[in-house]
Amino acid sequence: MTLNLAVAADLSHPPVDVTAVLDHLAQHADTTAATSIGYPGATDLDHTAVMARLGNRLWNNIGDPHDTGGVAHTRILEQAVIAWIADLLGMPTHDRWGYVTTGGTEGNLSALHTAYRRWPTARIYYSTAAHYSIPKIIDMLGAYKAVVDAGPDGEMDYEHLAAQLRRRRRWPAIVVATAGTTMTEAVDDTTRIRTILTEYDMAGHLHVDAALVGIPLALDGRLRLDDTSGIGSIAISGHKFLGTPTPCGVVLIRDSARKPSIRIAYTGTADTTVTGSRCGLAAALLWHAIATHGREGHRWRAAEARRLAGYAVDQIRATGWPAWRHQHAFTVVLPTPPEPVRTKWLLATHDRTSHIVCMPGITKGQIDALAADITAATRTPIPHPRSPIDEGTP
Ligand SMILES: Cc1ncc(COP(=O)(O)O)c(C=O)c1O
Repeated sequence: MTLNLAVAADLSHPPVDVTAVLDHLAQHADTTAATSIGYPGATDLDHTAVMARLGNRLWNNIGDPHDTGGVAHTRILEQAVIAWIADLLGMPTHDRWGYVTTGGTEGNLSALHTAYRRWPTARIYYSTAAHYSIPKIIDMLGAYKAVVDAGPDGEMDYEHLAAQLRRRRRWPAIVVATAGTTMTEAVDDTTRIRTILTEYDMAGHLHVDAALVGIPLALDGRLRLDDTSGIGSIAISGHKFLGTPTPCGVVLIRDSARKPSIRIAYTGTADTTVTGSRCGLAAALLWHAIATHGREGHRWRAAEARRLAGYAVDQIRATGWPAWRHQHAFTVVLPTPPEPVRTKWLLATHDRTSHIVCMPGITKGQIDALAADITAATRTPIPHPRSPIDEGTP
């Protein structure tokens, strides 16, 4: 007999069959895992050691992870994670600060809050392909926003950015670039953005939202936060490329972009983080994922996943259905296939375009099965506009 989860979990009618509810959740997750390829979470890393040893206690890193006071159970591991990612990005050791967040959204909030404290009259620029957290955060800050067009492939339209900046030249600019847009994994060109800001002699801050691909691009040397980059901050999700079993992330901000924060007497630390209590288990999971694979291991994981994304483009195109990807992307973009295919494979969809994200852990078998389903659902190929990117084989 199938369990009605809503009824079984209803706490207003005890006794609740706790075991049945937990079993149901675990079984459902196991059953849908094979067709969950629309949202980016790596599944190839084994986090059992951390969950088994630490999963049954409270690990709370309260306040600033670089402080020495207060309660911070896995602070040493958090500092090691921050240092590893900052080193990977080439951030100067004398000009870096960061912490483990609840995810990419908190990273964006922390970075934009920091930038706006420093430039309180700034206008905040972001593209139409930016993550939905960006306009929400700007509203939370009470700042003025300026929306910049993105091209059909998801990359920022730099001419339009220049035009938007020109109209607001008298105010400082906080510009949000995206490295790996949510739908197409486009990477905005921060060198071009910085050149435009210099051309208009505009003060301000350049933030990079790199939730999905911050670590892979840094491993390739394609994303740098060194002194010449002009980038002031970056937000990265931890549960995406590093596949932690709890949502988390990392924010890194140049120390020189920050203003002093007040000290809280009873926590014994500076109030620099968005939340006070913070998940020390997340820091341990990130540390473990890094410690057990190192730079080379993670480079290999990224290369294999991109190879699979290239394979997916070829296999989907071979069915007669269009598909494309940016050159180094995990994300494969396709016109939304017929409904049974879309729902079975949990394809993320926006404006009749869908994507799959070939994160580490996805197999050729899954791609072959998806292609077979597309073939079965589309006896005659549906004509569709050419893809915005003329992509060759990977
Ligand atoms: C570009 C981008 N930024 C931010 C986020 C938000 O990250 P999180 O879900 O970790 O809060 C996402 C999530 O998909 C994203 O794609």
